[in-house]
Parts: sequence; structure tokens; C-alpha cells
Amino acid sequence: MLAVAVLVSGRGSNLRAILNSSKLQDLIKVKAVVSDKSFCPAFDIAKEFSIPTYSVGKFTRPLGGKEGTLSFDALQNLLLTSEINLLVLAGFLKLLPPDFVRAFKNRIINIHPALLPSFGGSGMYGINVHNAVFKSSAKVSGATVHFVDETYDTGKIIAQRCVDISDAQSPEEIAERVLVIEHQLLPDVIEKIALGKVFVKDDRVVVVS
Ligand code: GRF
Repeated sequence: MLAVAVLVSGRGSNLRAILNSSKLQDLIKVKAVVSDKSFCPAFDIAKEFSIPTYSVGKFTRPLGGKEGTLSFDALQNLLLTSEINLLVLAGFLKLLPPDFVRAFKNRIINIHPALLPSFGGSGMYGINVHNAVFKSSAKVSGATVHFVDETYDTGKIIAQRCVDISDAQSPEEIAERVLVIEHQLLPDVIEKIALGKVFVKDDRVVVVS
């Protein structure tokens, strides 16, 4: 059983897709849901599934001694002690500290709502991504799952799936189409990782079918 932590910042639809995926039921256990916010809607999903939630980092408003707020060092220790094998960034907005990334080398993946290496990087999240795609007049978009390195959206690509947007009328319409793909692609990649079918060889990601 692959022990997984999911990192979130917002609504958590990808978290729900993972938790509802029948193919993952016997392969993984989500043992923690972590956010850079003191609260986000994804925490409600975690609670529905009785998964412990944690907040990480510093907050701009006082938390009044709120329990469960961890530094990245403390989170690293917690995840290592809990023998977490895979960290899944599913809408997590904060850049992970380099030491944290190194501690989990090739064990952190992220889903991005566009076809990297285009439309990625700092500031490219949420509707900003789809605005840029719409403005570019690209005819296809899609989702990318990649390993996480020290900078935004630059880690090696594990899998991508495309969607036709040639007739899309707005960035919101692109977002809707891409989200459908995301909810399929992320569980598919996690399944492959759980089955030991994803590895790095000669500086490239290999996915065995
Ligand atoms: C998704 O579009 C994901 O690709 C991006 O942030 C969004 C998170 O959505 N990184 P949700 O919180 O999973 O609904």
C-alpha cells in the first residue's frame, strides 16, 4: 500500500478524484491532507474521509495559537516519520522549500492545468493559466503531471493528456474541459507509481505501460 499525502490550497476536486478512484482503493492510502492555508474547502473533503489535516507555513493573519500549524521542517519530519511514500500536489500554490524538495526527491508530483512546458511558472495558476491559453489562441490544452523540483512547473514530465479547445468560447470553458481530464490523469499516474511503473532512467522519466 502506497502511503500518500495530498497537498492542497483550494476546493479539492482533484483530492476527491483520488479518494473516489476505485482503481486506487487497494493501492494507496491517503494518510494526510496538508494546506498552506489555515482552512480551505479541501479540508472538508479530508474530514469526510476521516483523513488528518495539517496547515503548513506562516500565515499573514494571526491564528490565535491555532493547533496543527507546522513549519516545513516539522512537516518534513512528520511525513518521514509516517513513512509517506508519495506527496501529491493537487492545487497547492506555495513553492516548496529546496530542502523539503530534496528530502523527497522524485517522490513529489504536481498536476498543472495546461500542457507544460508552456503556460507554467510563477503566477500561472488557476484561471490565469486558462486566460493565457485562451489569449494565445491555442487549439489544444490539457493537463500535465510532473515531478516537483525547486522551481514552479519545471520538473520532469510524467504524463500529459490533451483536450480539444478549438471551439472554446472563454477561459472558463477551457478550465472546465481541462478539469475533466485532470480528474482522470492524476489517479492514472498515481496508479502507475503505486504499481512501480514510473521511474527515472538516464535523466528521463520512463512510464511502463
Ligand atoms: C487544478 O486545476 C490543478 O491543476 C491546479 O489547481 C487546480 C486545483 O483544483 N494545480 P482543485 O482544488 O483540485 O479542485
